[in-house]
Amino acid sequence: MTKSIIKGIGHYVPENVVTNDDLSKLMTTNVEWITERTGIKERRHRKNRNDSEETTAYLGFKASQKALEMAQLNAKNIDYIIFATLSPDYYFPGCGVLLQEMLGCDTIGALDVRNQCSGFVYAMSVANAFIKSNTYKNILVVGAEIHSFGLDFSDQGRGVSVIFGDGAGAVVLSAADEATSGDILSVNMHSEGKYADELCTKFPGSKFGWSDRMRAEPENVTDAEVYPIMNGNFVFKHAVTRFPETMTEALNKAGKTMEDLDMFIPHQANLRIAQFVQQKMGLPEEKIFNNIQKYGNTTAASIPIALSEAIQQGKIKRGDLVLLSAFGSGFTWGSVLFEY
Ligand code: COA
Repeated sequence: MTKSIIKGIGHYVPENVVTNDDLSKLMTTNVEWITERTGIKERRHRKNRNDSEETTAYLGFKASQKALEMAQLNAKNIDYIIFATLSPDYYFPGCGVLLQEMLGCDTIGALDVRNQCSGFVYAMSVANAFIKSNTYKNILVVGAEIHSFGLDFSDQGRGVSVIFGDGAGAVVLSAADEATSGDILSVNMHSEGKYADELCTKFPGSKFGWSDRMRAEPENVTDAEVYPIMNGNFVFKHAVTRFPETMTEALNKAGKTMEDLDMFIPHQANLRIAQFVQQKMGLPEEKIFNNIQKYGNTTAASIPIALSEAIQQGKIKRGDLVLLSAFGSGFTWGSVLFEY
C-alpha cells in the first residue's frame, strides 16, 4: 500500500506586523480586549491593503518555494496542486492555476478548495486519496489568505477584523513505499450547511445580485453583505464541541489514543478555543502547538503555518504522531492524523 508522507513544508507571511495597539488607532478597541478574548498579540497584513502584487497566490508561491526546497524537488516534479483559500486573487479562476503559472509547473491539474478554516484539512484529505490511489506522486497542498484587503476596520467590524491575518503555508505530500517511515493514518471531514450564514461573506455571490447592484445601486449594498460577518459566540460554542468529536474520530479510526499523540495542531481560530479543547481532551502543554499570538487567524493557512513552525522549532520529529484539526465557516470541520 502506498504511503502519503510530508516531504517538504514551508510558510511565508508578509513582513508588515500589525499590533493590537495599531488596531486601536483605527477603531474603538484596546490591547486587553483583544489579548484576553482571542490570545492574539499581533498579525501580519500586507503593507498596502490594496496592493495587487502581494496577493494570496503570491504568498502561496513563496511558501511553496520553501516546501519544494525542503523536499529537494522542483516545480516540474509536482504533478498536482491543491490550493485552499477563501480570499482568492480573482472571483474566478482560483489560485491553483495562478500558482501553477508562478512556479512554472507543467500543465498539471490545479484544484481550488473553498472550505475556509477547514480548507487545509480538506485539501490534505483529497491529496491523501490521490496518493493512496496511485494517481499522483508529488502533490503541492497550499493554504493561503490575504484577509486584510476585505475587513471592516470601523467600530462596526471590530469583532471580526481584530481576529484575521494574512499568511500562507505549503506542504509537498509525496508517495512512499512500505519501507519509508511516515504516513497519513486517518482523515475525516464534516459539514453542517444550515449554519452558513453564521460566518460568511456574502458578496460576490449569486444570491445577492452582485454586479447589477454594485453598478446600479451601490448605495444600497450594505456593509453586512460586503464584509465578513460572524456570530462569534455561536461559532465558539460549536467549535468547542466539534473539535473533540473530530479529534476522537481521527484517533479511533487509526486505533490510536490521546496518549499516543505527540503533537496536536488545532486551526488557530482563537487561543481560548484551543485551550478549552486542550483541557477537555486532557492534553499536556507540550503536546499542543499554538502561534495565533503572532499571526491571528489565517484561516486555511493557519494549520500549515503552525505545522511548519513546529517542525522548524524541533517540536515535531520524524516518526511523531501528529493530529491536525479544524473548525470553521460552513460550518465545516475535520482532521488529519499522520505519522511525520
Ligand atoms: N474591541 C473591544 N470590544 C469589542 C470588540 C473589540 N475588538 N469586539 C467586540 N467588542 C465588544 C462587543 O461590542 C460587545 O460589547 P457589548 O457587550 O457592549 O455589546 C462585547 O465586546 C462582547 O462581545 P462578544 O461578541 O459577546 O464577545 P465574545 O466574548 O464572544 O468574544 C469573539 C468575541 C469573536 C472573540 C469570540 O466570540 C470568538 O472568538 N468566537 C469564535 C470566533 C472564531 O473562532 N472565528 C473563526 C472561525 S474558525
